[in-house]
Amino acid sequence: MKLIITRHGETEENKAGIIQGHLPGHLSATGIKQAEKVALRLKDEKIDFIYSSDLARASDTAKKMNLKSMRFFGFDAFKGLPEGTDKEHDVLQKGFYACSFEKMKECLKRRNINPNDITWINGWYDETLNNKTIEKHNIKKIGIVFVDCDTYSSSKAVLDFLTPLITEPVIFCFDDWKLYNMDVKGTGEYRSFNEFLEKNIHLEVKEIKSYNRKSKSFLIKLKK
Ligand SMILES: C[S@@+](CC[C@H](N)C(=O)[O-])C[C@H]1O[C@@H](n2cnc3c(N)ncnc32)[C@H](O)[C@@H]1O
Repeated sequence: MKLIITRHGETEENKAGIIQGHLPGHLSATGIKQAEKVALRLKDEKIDFIYSSDLARASDTAKKMNLKSMRFFGFDAFKGLPEGTDKEHDVLQKGFYACSFEKMKECLKRRNINPNDITWINGWYDETLNNKTIEKHNIKKIGIVFVDCDTYSSSKAVLDFLTPLITEPVIFCFDDWKLYNMDVKGTGEYRSFNEFLEKNIHLEVKEIKSYNRKSKSFLIKLKK
């Protein structure tokens, strides 16, 4: 596997000496030219996937480099945690984190993400994570997966659904690995991921840098 890493182009905020942190940042005229130069430099490379942060400065740079080859899917019931969550966890309860589809779209727009760039699969996982969805959207492989559904059963449903689609290296990010010490207690995403690895001995896993203190990220690929 060949990995190409590029920086985002210069932003207006860079020019003004503003530390951007998680602010989106907007490409300056120079930044746009820089992104176009990278695109030109890479034009003969066969690039399967482009992964980019969702911050505007990074995603705008990536768009100049043909982000069209990558599709984004969002799976959620938009009704909070499902029935049965209370049996699984003493703090997490049915309905926790409920946020309507409309409200979520507003949140994305405030972060300069166009919700129409994402294919939304709206519904409970036991109704949506199936072959019908794979066929309908012609999903052949996956590149990066962000798991943020908190519980053992929901993250297990995600992993079972995605297993056949792991044909090339995939990054899995688990947002709630350490939430309420679920890793220490042996439940939640920790449990579903460990069971997934036990079942899928054809896969090899390497932990990679996490993006915050309660998450864990892994690179998974087929064993040679
Ligand atoms: C902690 S929230 C995270 C939402 C979003 N990723 C964010 O950062 O704002 C967990 C989400 O997972 C969804 N969820 C959990 N289990 C689910 C299931 N079995 N089917 C569908 N959605 C589920 C809930 O509806 C909720 O919106």
